[in-house]
Amino acid sequence: MTSASDDGVHVRVVDHPLTRAWLSILRDQATDNTAFRSALARLSQMLVYEAFADVDVDEIDVQTPVAVAPGARVSTPPMFVPVLRAGLGMLESALAVLPDARIGFVGVGRDEETAQPVEYLASLPADLSGQPVYVLDPMLATGGSLIHTLDLLAERGATDLTAVCVVGAPEGVAALQGSAHRGLRLVIGAIDEHLNEDSFIVPGLGDAGDRQFGPR
Ligand code: PRP
Repeated sequence: MTSASDDGVHVRVVDHPLTRAWLSILRDQATDNTAFRSALARLSQMLVYEAFADVDVDEIDVQTPVAVAPGARVSTPPMFVPVLRAGLGMLESALAVLPDARIGFVGVGRDEETAQPVEYLASLPADLSGQPVYVLDPMLATGGSLIHTLDLLAERGATDLTAVCVVGAPEGVAALQGSAHRGLRLVIGAIDEHLNEDSFIVPGLGDAGDRQFGPR
């Protein structure tokens, strides 16, 4: 795992043999929809697990059958916000790690001509102050969709924000660093080479929504 903090955005690249193995399956153009969904679920569970590496916990005592043991409990249950469609494929995995999380939804589709985010759903509580929020989206390309989602969360008072992504482009990371979201944590499986002229990540894995669910 590598870690870097720049301009207030903390970037953690989860570089583990198993994340690389699952990511290779996702990248492979021969992987069909079913196998893609399965590999995404497995990789997401590892990424979400890493995203909670430094979560706040309450120290508690646990009564075992033998004695009292020191233990820990996550202080504040998180909220998961998958960005539709592609982020839906990460939600069950996130809930496997933290089953008592709250859940919100944001739907954003990228305009194919302009690559700008177009919002079609924001199902979020009005007040997110004090609520740790974990945004789930496999792809960080231009960063437009993620920044739009972070803006929606910040408008509702959320300040403890983490993005969990599978693969990103340096251009997307730079956009986050140039955004208003100074304390953001980004946990990501890989940062690839660049964006192409169609704003696709190179080498990337194609379109994670299409590869799970078929073309829109
Ligand atoms: C993809 C992806 C991200 C976004 C990334 O979604 O899942 O949400 O694009 O691109 P950006 O960083 O340039 O905004 P897409 O618009 O293809 O929608 P889908 O998930 O419904 O397929």
